[in-house]
Amino acid sequence: MKRNRIIEHPILDQLEERKTVTFQFDGKTLTGYERDTIASALLANGIRTLRRHEHSGAPRGIYCNIGHCFECRVTVNGTPNVRACITPIEENMIVESGKQLPSPLNPNNEHVPKTYREYMEMKDGEN
Ligand code: FES
Repeated sequence: MKRNRIIEHPILDQLEERKTVTFQFDGKTLTGYERDTIASALLANGIRTLRRHEHSGAPRGIYCNIGHCFECRVTVNGTPNVRACITPIEENMIVESGKQLPSPLNPNNEHVPKTYREYMEMKDGEN
């Protein structure tokens, strides 16, 4: 867990030992320190992707880290849209990443042609 942490800082000195907290992220059991935010605990565990963009599926993570941008929203104990960067972890907390939503125009996520030519090639391939 200390792998991704600054444990010795020239101004802030040594990282103090704190009580370990166990929580889950997408079904995986992880540990963090007491007073860690969800985002800092996940980052310390090497996890940078907190959710997928609802439409494009692009990975999203910490952006402002001060609670303004909502890029870090996750589901916590069944409550959606919780900001991971300002929410402290708690023992046995269940955190789930945000998922890409199915498109109402393409619910099965099939390949959609982007050009007329691509459409015609797909259409020819069907015949
Ligand atoms: S990273 Fe901006 S609100 Fe959490």
